[in-house]
Amino acid sequence: MDMPRLGQGTWNMGDDPARRKEELAALREGIALGMTLIDTAEMYGDGRAESLVAEAISGMRGKVFLVTKVLPSNASRKGVARACEASLKRLKTDRVELYLLHWSGSHPLAETVRGFEDLLAAGKIRAWGVSNLDLREMQQLVALPGGGACAANQLLYNLQRRGIEFDLLPWSQRQGIPVMAYSPVEQGRILGNRVLGQVARRLDATPARVALAWVLRQAGVVAIPKAGTVSHVRDNRAALDLELDAQSLAALDAEFAPPRRARPLEML
Ligand SMILES: NC(=O)c1ccc[n+]([C@@H]2O[C@H](COP(=O)([O-])OP(=O)(O)OC[C@H]3O[C@@H](n4cnc5c(N)ncnc54)[C@H](OP(=O)(O)O)[C@@H]3O)[C@@H](O)[C@H]2O)c1
Repeated sequence: MDMPRLGQGTWNMGDDPARRKEELAALREGIALGMTLIDTAEMYGDGRAESLVAEAISGMRGKVFLVTKVLPSNASRKGVARACEASLKRLKTDRVELYLLHWSGSHPLAETVRGFEDLLAAGKIRAWGVSNLDLREMQQLVALPGGGACAANQLLYNLQRRGIEFDLLPWSQRQGIPVMAYSPVEQGRILGNRVLGQVARRLDATPARVALAWVLRQAGVVAIPKAGTVSHVRDNRAALDLELDAQSLAALDAEFAPPRRARPLEML
């Protein structure tokens, strides 16, 4: 299954019983609208987000491109196997489409890659990747035996966090490694921006839609907004049909300046 360009995040979902029904409805609506990539992690709510995802995709597993992540503290060769088994159990499935190292920690990347290769051979994951790795770490990773199989790097990327455009994004594009843009609407913080609002009004769109279309304008970039309501999911889906014209892009560049030099990788 190819990786869909627009997916759904699940951080902070599944924590509040009062919101559960609406969150399940939102995820299901997203799948129905083609946002079939669901991004979760063992970390989110200590497994509660994975359990929510299991319920949301019940009866639709075949349609879903499931992504989950192993914590760096579990990323030894044996730890990866144990963590994946626990995630599969919570997700009520026998495999995930993509398994990511959440960020790099004390276990050597070479060991984590061996753990991923064991899982590939056992059919428990279809592909593996990483998250929050900077350019130097990515160069080290692809130079490792088997490292070239890395299928994604999930990174903080939105209008206000453009640092990767300087070097890591073009490098990833050249390597053919998809970038999964997380927090693509900066957790809602950029949505009140004046210029973003002006661009949205001119295009008869919403700020969230413009912010997502802006992330998706780049080749090889996938976006995974988190939405806890059906109306936000529908709005996000509409970003796939919105093309930003030169005037909008120029206005956004003037407000959210592109990087002029290398910067340390930002993460949330
Ligand atoms: N790999 C990593 O280290 C990492 C780090 C952070 C996030 N992630 C992943 O990326 C996903 C997305 O990032 P995120 O959750 O941090 O932030 P985000 O997707 O940028 O923002 C989520 C916030 O935006 C609101 N929102 C979404 N769509 C909207 C719309 N159309 N109109 C108005 N508000 C809207 C949501 O509100 P409602 O909930 O009310 O809809 C929520 O408060 C996460 O859920 C997670 O799966 C990965």
